[in-house]
This record gives sequence, C-alpha cells and structure tokens, in this order.
Amino acid sequence: MAEEIPTVMTAIEISSPGGPRVLKAGERPVPAPKSGELLVRVRSAGVNRPDVLQRQGHYPPPQGASDIPGLEISGDVVATGEGVTRFRLGERVTALVAGGGYAQYCTVHESNALPIPAGYGYIEAAAIPETFFTVWHNVFERGALQSGETFLVHGGSSGIGTTAIQLAKAFGASVFTTAGSGDKCEACVKLGADHAINYREEDFVEAVKRHTDGKGANLILDMVGGDYIDRNYDAAAIDGRIVQIAFLNGAKATTDMTKLMVKRLQHTGSTLRARTIEFKAGIARELELNVWPLLAERKVAPVIDMVYPLHEAWRAHERMEDGQHIGKIVLDVS
Ligand SMILES: NC(=O)c1ccc[n+]([C@@H]2O[C@H](COP(=O)([O-])OP(=O)(O)OC[C@H]3O[C@@H](n4cnc5c(N)ncnc54)[C@H](OP(=O)(O)O)[C@@H]3O)[C@@H](O)[C@H]2O)c1
Repeated sequence: MAEEIPTVMTAIEISSPGGPRVLKAGERPVPAPKSGELLVRVRSAGVNRPDVLQRQGHYPPPQGASDIPGLEISGDVVATGEGVTRFRLGERVTALVAGGGYAQYCTVHESNALPIPAGYGYIEAAAIPETFFTVWHNVFERGALQSGETFLVHGGSSGIGTTAIQLAKAFGASVFTTAGSGDKCEACVKLGADHAINYREEDFVEAVKRHTDGKGANLILDMVGGDYIDRNYDAAAIDGRIVQIAFLNGAKATTDMTKLMVKRLQHTGSTLRARTIEFKAGIARELELNVWPLLAERKVAPVIDMVYPLHEAWRAHERMEDGQHIGKIVLDVS
C-alpha cells in the first residue's frame, strides 16, 4: 500500500550564515513532484564540503534550487510527477540533487536518480552520488584518464579523494595521492593508492617525480589550489592535464605560466551543482553503465566515516570541519 504523504516535513535550515550550530531543524512543506520528477522519502543524506561552504554563506544555491542544504540522497519513491517512466512507487533510489537533501522528503528529476546498487543499504547509497558524479566527470570525461596513466589526486582521504583513488585504480591507472596524516595515507593505500604522500612530511612534487623516473603525473585532480597550482605544473608530465574542482587554500596564486607552454599542459576545472538536469543525466547514464557493476561487485564502494541523525546535522558539519574524517559523513533520516 502506498505510504501516506504528510503535508509538512522536518528539514534542516541554515538559520543564518555561520558556524555548525546555525543548522536548525524546522518545518517545511513537503515538495510536490513536477513533471518528470520523483518525490523521495529520504532515508539517508550525504554530507559534502560544499554544504559547509553553503552554511558559511560562501556557496549560495543555484537559481531554482532549494535553500535546504544537501546534494545527495537515498530513499524510496513515494510519488511521481507526470510523465515519469524510469521508476515506480516503492523503488529504492539514490540521487544527485541541487539542494534539499537534509530533509524527510526531496524531489529529483528521474534522470538524476539511479537504482540503489545491489547489496547496498540506504546509508552507503546516500554516500555515492556527489563524489561519483564529480569524479566521473572531472577525471574520466574532462580529465580523460586512460589505463596505464599516472594519476595524482590531492586530498586522498576526502569523500572525493576516496572515490577518485578507487575509480582510477579500477580503470587501470597508477595512483598517487596526498593527505595530511599517516593514518589518512594508510587509509588511501588500503583503498588502492600506489603511493600516498603525507604532504606535511614530504614534498609531493619530488615524490611523484621520484616514482615516475622524473616523468610526472599525466592527470592531476586538485581541490587545494593556492601554492599547489604552481607545484602541480611541476608535478605534471609533458602534455599533462590538471583539473581543478575547488580552491580550499585559495583561488589566487602566483605561478610561472611558462610551464604551461613548455610542458604543453592543459589546466581546466568545473563545478557540478549548477549544471543542467540533462548534463547530470548524461553522467548518470555513464555511471550506471560503467560504475554500477563495479559497485555491485564491491570493486569500488563509498567509504563511510560517521553517521549522525538528521537533527544532529550540526555535529556532522563539526566533524567535517574538524578535518579528521576519512571518506563520507552521512545523515540518517529514517
Ligand atoms: N567542482 C565540483 O563539482 C565539486 C563537487 C564536489 C566537491 N567539490 C569540492 O571537492 C572538495 C572535496 O569535497 P569533499 O566533500 O570530499 O570534502 P572533504 O571530505 O571535507 O575533503 C576535503 C579535503 O581537503 C583536504 N584539504 C586540503 N587543504 C584543506 C583546507 N585548507 N581546508 C580543508 N581541507 C583541506 C583535506 O585533507 P587533509 O586533511 O589531508 O589536508 C580533506 O581531505 C571540496 O573542496 C569540495 O568543495 C567540488
């Protein structure tokens, strides 16, 4: 029997820009699915660094997106809008959303949802979309990583990093990563990284060069920016690619641009959240084809750090800002 849908729900609101405690449980109307959309009874929601930036007032939701934080969910389809063909009531889905994930109900276009991979519960399923969509696009589409190439990902123990290490390995790359502690480096190696460099103790440029006979990395995925920009140019191989997905240490840098020219480097970047539903649907199709089988076989899987109940979203943000986490932090909405 179909679940009765209430008119109001609990959602986490950003009461004003600020620290984790500005996240407060409030009541919101349950959203109605528009044409092509699913209404999902959220069971779990992933927490991502962009949610922290949004809470701080540095990353406003794109036009038309919910002001409730949360970019990824898992749950059950409880209603469908006109013209929905891909999912039926009661199906378990995981979905990438442009906002609204920290809530009991959330709408998503059916093309941005995927079936929960076989053998996965709601917690793990909610930890998949944001990092797998981001890594697929930036590493494999934009970055064009090929089997046999050398890949360097900074922030290897992050949600993004743990996904990037596993996918790059699964597709045959040799993986270098950087992380800020011995424990984090150990976790990265367990996930398949060939070399994890504790950047507090070792210069990553030297380490990458040493292990590649001086050649450098064919592709670098960077979320740090700042002085890493110039150092990435040094660590990159001839004809290397660098894909920028964030600037945690600053977006302004002084760099010797001659290196771009002499080494024929390509430096690009992208953000996922503001892209169109159609664009995200394209990534969803590629993931279902190329990555869902790997998830089902557990050749790759999200790494769960901690789970908090929805009303303790502030604790989840504290954990993320504390920077000790390895992998994903998830909210239990059940
Ligand atoms: N462009 C896009 O489409 C897109 C999509 C999703 C996420 N992102 C970005 O990707 C990054 C990772 O996201 P996530 O959710 O995986 O976050 P996360 O788990 O919190 O990871 C952040 C990582 O960055 C490292 N780091 C280096 N310098 C830092 C600094 N100054 N402040 C904080 N951390 C620093 C930390 O590792 P150490 O402790 O080892 O330094 C940490 O592992 C974020 O910047 C996020 O905004 C971009």
